[in-house]
Amino acid sequence: MIRVEHLSKYFGGIHAVENVSLEIAEGSITGLIGPNGAGKTTLFNVIAGAYKPTSGKVFLDGEDITGLEPHELFHKGLLRTFQIAHEFSSLTVRENLMMVPPNQHGEYLLDAWIRPALVRQQEAEIRERADDVIRFLEIERVADELAGNLSGGQKKLLELGRTMMVDAKIVFLDEVGAGVNRTLLGTIADAIRRLNVERGYTFCMIEHDMDFISDLCDPVIVMAEGHLLAQGKAADIMQNEDVIEAYLGTGLKNKPGVSSAAPDAKPARKPARKPSTAKATGKPSRKKAAARKGASK
Ligand SMILES: Nc1ncnc2c1ncn2[C@@H]1O[C@H](COP(=O)(O)OP(=O)(O)O)[C@@H](O)[C@H]1O
Ligand SMILES: [Mg+2]
Repeated sequence: MIRVEHLSKYFGGIHAVENVSLEIAEGSITGLIGPNGAGKTTLFNVIAGAYKPTSGKVFLDGEDITGLEPHELFHKGLLRTFQIAHEFSSLTVRENLMMVPPNQHGEYLLDAWIRPALVRQQEAEIRERADDVIRFLEIERVADELAGNLSGGQKKLLELGRTMMVDAKIVFLDEVGAGVNRTLLGTIADAIRRLNVERGYTFCMIEHDMDFISDLCDPVIVMAEGHLLAQGKAADIMQNEDVIEAYLGTGLKNKPGVSSAAPDAKPARKPARKPSTAKATGKPSRKKAAARKGASK
């Protein structure tokens, strides 16, 4: 469904993504893991149109979508979730959902004036869809709550819910489980699985929680230092020497089978913009090492 060919994205001297080629199969829940600074978010941003690649191509169902704007990709059914923006925190959960579908007639004053019935009908449809999403995610209790008052996990569910307001084909989730408690993580995992099975969504998700990944994702793609390191079933990935090496010092080592949460891979919460330290592998590339000087702790 998605084919990425020799994709690179440089920020000055930082080779955030370097010659990555991969495929995301239709109907899959593909996991993307790797130490901080591996280039995962940058790869997402390039695929989803937030950044233009330095070189390389991205295809969606065979169509070259390289460099298209996020809203153009949105219309093609390629979505990435975003944190609920500040200005939407004073809207209710239902209102946040209802805002998603583009080209609502009510947005156009003229339409509202000359075709009020159409506008009303469309709004009713959108409201119905929002209610359907609310039921699907089992968040009826907070449907009329302001988004700003939601817990972290509920916000993540709402982010997921926003992708359901349009006919998404493939959804990119960046650390949807970060900072979410176990119970809600289970709810999110269920929602993802059901969207995948019942509604045919393809997912590609960046996650740190290995339980979550092992449970949901097949295949799992591993990145480190801007490169693709490995790809396969979660269980095999965990045994892969290169992968263990890449995570050296970040918790995966000495954990055969990797039972839980790769706790030290967590600094996910730190600002993503800072170049990561050379912790990720023992052998940082020269350019990166240079770029990192001064930035390392
Ligand atoms: N907008 C940006 N400007 C400059 N450097 C960036 C930018 N975004 C990411 N980087 C750098 O690119 C590298 C990869 O970052 P990122 O894609 O966020 O990694 P990950 O999501 O795997 O933690 C890091 O060294 C990071 O500092
Ligand atoms: Mg990231």
